[in-house]
Amino acid sequence: MPMLEVRKLSVRYGPLEAVRGIDFAVGEGQIVALIGSNGAGKSTTLKALMGLVPIAGGQVLMQGEDIGAEAAAMRVTRGLALSPEGRRLFGRMTVLDNLLVGAYAVQRRADIAQSLKEVYDLFPRVLERRNQLAGSLSGGEQQMVAIGRALMARPRLLLLDEPSLGIAPKIVAEIAAAINRLNRDVGMSIILVEQNARLALKLAHHAYALEHGEIVRTGRGDELLADPFVRKAYLGV
Ligand SMILES: Nc1ncnc2c1ncn2[C@@H]1O[C@H](COP(=O)(O)OP(=O)(O)OP(=O)(O)O)[C@@H](O)[C@H]1O
Ligand SMILES: [Mg+2]
Repeated sequence: MPMLEVRKLSVRYGPLEAVRGIDFAVGEGQIVALIGSNGAGKSTTLKALMGLVPIAGGQVLMQGEDIGAEAAAMRVTRGLALSPEGRRLFGRMTVLDNLLVGAYAVQRRADIAQSLKEVYDLFPRVLERRNQLAGSLSGGEQQMVAIGRALMARPRLLLLDEPSLGIAPKIVAEIAAAINRLNRDVGMSIILVEQNARLALKLAHHAYALEHGEIVRTGRGDELLADPFVRKAYLGV
């Protein structure tokens, strides 16, 4: 049974059907990429998985259970966590306090301490800057904090929305290495939404290309990297 399965998912904003009956699945321990151009419905899909926008139709199954009507907080306790597009940190709070926000549903202090240690191991820069205001960090450092905040919820399935957006190539490489490490060392399942299709397809076991709310291509990451349609539409080659 897949960790997550989405069947005929649709999401509407008034008259606009932003996601139009898509099907996809994430296996345990897989990195799944969702690629697509601006407005394709990538962020909307992640928000629907997280329970931040209501679904207009279809099912969201987590280990076979339909969670499509559950509140976001409940989904967090089931093991979903989102690092949102644009990072959405609390700029006037310290890095540490931002991280602790992500642990609001974690009961045991020992688990919170353990998660903090794991985040600091993954991103040593975040440790160095833990007492600094989040708003004073560089974009790349803020992205690390946003991913760290999601990890503080101790997710089984991590949702990453555009972690490379607006970030210098050197830091993008660090973040990519961290995504790989989370998947390889801890077996964390990850959905990676990216406009940087090359990066996403290199990292992903499986990928879906989304256009106008519909899946137009699917395959292994390396297959899509070699697919002429994908190369022309998303890789500019
Ligand atoms: N809150 C909202 N109200 C109305 N329309 C919205 C809302 N959020 C998104 N949309 C619309 O839904 C469509 C899908 O948006 P979404 O943000 O999911 O795209 P995306 O693939 O994440 O794009 P990007 O790569 O630019 O982040 C777009 O046409 C967008 O304008
Ligand atoms: Mg988006």
